[in-house]
Amino acid sequence: MKPIKKISFEKKDEFYKYLNIKLLGLVTSESNVLSNFSNIAALLGLLMEDINWAGFYFLKDNELKLGPFYGKPACTTLTVGRGVCGTAVEDRSIQMINNVDAFDGHVACDPESKSEIVFPIIVEDVVIGVLDIDSPIYNRFDEEDYRGLERILFTIKKYMDWESVKKCMI
Ligand code: SME
Repeated sequence: MKPIKKISFEKKDEFYKYLNIKLLGLVTSESNVLSNFSNIAALLGLLMEDINWAGFYFLKDNELKLGPFYGKPACTTLTVGRGVCGTAVEDRSIQMINNVDAFDGHVACDPESKSEIVFPIIVEDVVIGVLDIDSPIYNRFDEEDYRGLERILFTIKKYMDWESVKKCMI
């Protein structure tokens, strides 16, 4: 396996291109979905600046259950319709929160988190779970992160074996 180096980029767009290449390297060389989600979480946590938590929750019996992640141990169950992740699932929309303290119902799994971005993972019109990324600084995420991470999610959707995900995670 090639070493993964943390490199500083002047432009976020270049950073996300690099992240996408590293992601492709991981998900195209392995088919096991648990291994892939684990490595993706580690990659995001390792390479993104000012991140204290990055990981996945999967929707099982209408609750979000903790999946592979990078960071401190987190809440194992989240309620659909509550908090940032639960809202992303219920509204089927990306949540970019500049200040989590101002978000009604925010679930503070890690009190260090100050801003957060959550993407619902929707496959063939079914919500499978979320990708959640937390930062210890306010206003960490902007339009470029939103677009860059959308591209990352596109790669994840394209290469993940979703039938396997359904069988073993949800
Ligand atoms: N803050 C999230 C909970 C998950 S943790 O951040 C890992 C929320 O409000 O849904």
